[in-house]
Amino acid sequence: MPTSTQIQEAEQEVAQLATTCATANELMAAIVKLLHRKMPHYNWVGFYMLEEPGPVLQLGFFEGAPTPHTRIPLNQGICGAAVSQGETVVVDDVSSDPRYLACSIETKSEIVAPVFADGQVVGELDVDSHTPAAFALEDRRLIEYCASVVGKHLENAGS
Ligand code: SME
Repeated sequence: MPTSTQIQEAEQEVAQLATTCATANELMAAIVKLLHRKMPHYNWVGFYMLEEPGPVLQLGFFEGAPTPHTRIPLNQGICGAAVSQGETVVVDDVSSDPRYLACSIETKSEIVAPVFADGQVVGELDVDSHTPAAFALEDRRLIEYCASVVGKHLENAGS
């Protein structure tokens, strides 16, 4: 599991990226790279963004193995659930969750945090781990923080 120091360092680096990246796309690309490189148990890290028509979740920037799930309807998967509920979903054992859409047979646990901009869900940050129950409260805070800085960037871009 990541240590508190790793989590704090990652948070600080993300805060730095939020000030240096010129666009939300640049920020999302940098965040997935940072989390994947720095956090040993984050084996797949990616953003899905809501797109019309549908709406549907469209895979955006990611690090890790290619996934067959590049477009996910809102009534499918852990990804669809997080966006539909507008709240973070943590699954400690994906094999016991009927909503789970398999991406890699190695994945054991998953967390998905919605990205909000102007009070609306506009996408989400998805992290998969090969370790069961990999995501503790501190990981959840880090991932939600990453989702929130992207949301703020999108809000600023639209203003
Ligand atoms: N497992 C996700 C699908 C996306 S892949 O993990 C990258 C889900 O159940 O929605």
